[in-house]
Amino acid sequence: MVKRKNQNGSQKENKSSTIPPFHNFTDEETKEVRTSLVSWYNENKRDLPWRRYASHLDINERAYAVWVSEIMLQQTQVATVIDYYNKWMKKWPTVQDLAKATLEEVNEMWSGLGYYSRGRRLFEGAKKVAEDLNGEMPKDAESLLKQLPGVGKYTAGAIASIAYNEATGLVDGNVIRVLCRLRMIGAESNGQVVTDTLWSLANNLVDPDKPGDFNQGMMELGATVCTPKSPECSTCPLKNNCKAFAQVEQEKRKSSDKLGTRKKDTEIVDIECLTDKCQLCLPDTEVYDSSQGVMNYPRKGKKKAAREESTIVCVTCRKSDSEDEFLITQRPEKGLLAGLWEFPSYCCDDTSSDKPSCDSILQHHGVTVTRESREKDCGEVVHIFSHIHQTYLIKSVTVDQSSIKQQDQPKCKWVTRQQFMEAAVSTAMKKVFKAYEAACNEDRKASTKPKGKIDKNQKSIQAFFKPKAS
Ligand code: ADE
Repeated sequence: MVKRKNQNGSQKENKSSTIPPFHNFTDEETKEVRTSLVSWYNENKRDLPWRRYASHLDINERAYAVWVSEIMLQQTQVATVIDYYNKWMKKWPTVQDLAKATLEEVNEMWSGLGYYSRGRRLFEGAKKVAEDLNGEMPKDAESLLKQLPGVGKYTAGAIASIAYNEATGLVDGNVIRVLCRLRMIGAESNGQVVTDTLWSLANNLVDPDKPGDFNQGMMELGATVCTPKSPECSTCPLKNNCKAFAQVEQEKRKSSDKLGTRKKDTEIVDIECLTDKCQLCLPDTEVYDSSQGVMNYPRKGKKKAAREESTIVCVTCRKSDSEDEFLITQRPEKGLLAGLWEFPSYCCDDTSSDKPSCDSILQHHGVTVTRESREKDCGEVVHIFSHIHQTYLIKSVTVDQSSIKQQDQPKCKWVTRQQFMEAAVSTAMKKVFKAYEAACNEDRKASTKPKGKIDKNQKSIQAFFKPKAS
């Protein structure tokens, strides 16, 4: 097996010999792709806040800034991340600052970004750097991967190439799409053979002189030009090296041949893999859909259907002379939405039709309502987590201070509306609160509308149908 030296002088295995030639890049193509992509990136890159930090002189600051951005960007759109990133870097500009935070503060800052374990792991990693590694970030992809919790192959590659200039490739969703199209890889893109091949291709293709720009260029191209549903092949800097594009052009030529309009001297490009039973090609059981063009690639395997779950949420409002307060409880430290706060809830993951009342849900959290409280229905909201289709059935009860008895529970607290909005709560719970407030507004409107009177809209409809006086 050929070994290749990277910028840091370490050896990287080059597995390109195992990739069928049709799906690989020749040396000439490799050069062309590097040059075209890096110059396109430098002319077209978006001005994003983390890119400014990447030129900081201090290597630790640079690596930390890239680390934070890459963790936030996993599973979250760039547009959403920008605000969170700026706030985060303002509060914790260095890895040492983050190490001094609390998990509660981290969860508050992460509130609304989803996949909360990302924030927790980032925090744990910062503590490890500060306490065990003398405040120094690991200095190459391999040690980043080994030493930092939550840093996988992708994040290690991103930090090492962007912050340290290490010639290491990376593969994320955007890169999968770009590479599968460039090399006409039509086998399921989440299968092991394809995954290994994509990593080999990325590691061989990365520009050793500009690895950070190259990798960001691949991701940027996937995000802005080689998009899933509306690729703009005509402006793509890599179109001359793209086999999926060549296939589209060939299809066009075939149809103009049929019409007898093709110029006879048009170059024919090789778009067929001659490897017997190739594990990277579109399998025989699948058809190439010419109306989809390059969008035939990549092809994903079937996703497991999301699990259906419903949860009763009890929004408990405590009336007082000053501001209303709401009861929130903290979720367990492990599992979905670990450590986040929510309204007292009960997950009905069984099929039983017996649904507990708000009183019994509250009792479970150590809160007893002594006077009869009327439970109100506030509708439902649905929230999709990556693998759960969650329906929240929203109930509410309103109590006053004198009608509740509460055990001393650190995982239970009363908060004002403002405090709720700033607490470590998930987007799903904020949706629940919005639905609760909408239901309260409806009730208020209904109870203030004078009985028997026609409202403004009804009146105008009646006026519309009234015969006009001639
Ligand atoms: N997606 C994730 N990280 C990125 C980066 N550094 N540049 C462009 N897109 C990205």
